Amino acid sequence: MNYSMCISSWTELKNEAQAIRYEVFVIEQQVPVELEMDDLDEVSEHAVLSLDGQAIATGRLLPNAHIGRMAVLASHRGQGAGGLVLAALLEQAKQREVTTVFLSAQQHAIPFYERYGFVAYGEAYLDADMAHTMMRCDL
Ligand code: COA
Repeated sequence: MNYSMCISSWTELKNEAQAIRYEVFVIEQQVPVELEMDDLDEVSEHAVLSLDGQAIATGRLLPNAHIGRMAVLASHRGQGAGGLVLAALLEQAKQREVTTVFLSAQQHAIPFYERYGFVAYGEAYLDADMAHTMMRCDL
């Protein structure tokens, strides 16, 4: 497996990140495109993971230390790609000397985030018509 990780700005990674997110959130999960795209992309750091030159996974780290928009193309799930993106974003947060990282997890993904040290807190709530739970990870 020839993986390569790129961490950069929205300007640099927009094409790759947007294509993956469109496929995963808009097409697969039926999230309205106007909810999927927001103006936080411009101020976030983005991770894009490629396999043999094809962008397959992405995620972002907001200025307020929230990770979001974690997405792996369906055909590449369960092989560690999401874990590589999450680890890269946590490393970015560490470099910023962030002490706690937060995220809003879809219910099905809670065990995935728990594997990387996140802990759920608070009540579940609806976002884009899907149940979510807040999670935090102390670095
Ligand atoms: N999806 C994937 N893995 C899950 C999971 C879930 N819903 N729930 C638990 N896991 C566990 C697996 O059991 C596996 O552990 P194991 O190796 O011990 O078996 C591990 O998490 C999978 O890790 P990895 O292969 O790195 O995950 P992935 O590449 O499949 O990426 C997501 C995980 C959630 C990013 C991916 O499934 C995805 O893009 N889903 C659609 C978009 C989405 O829901 N994003 C999250 C929004 S909060």
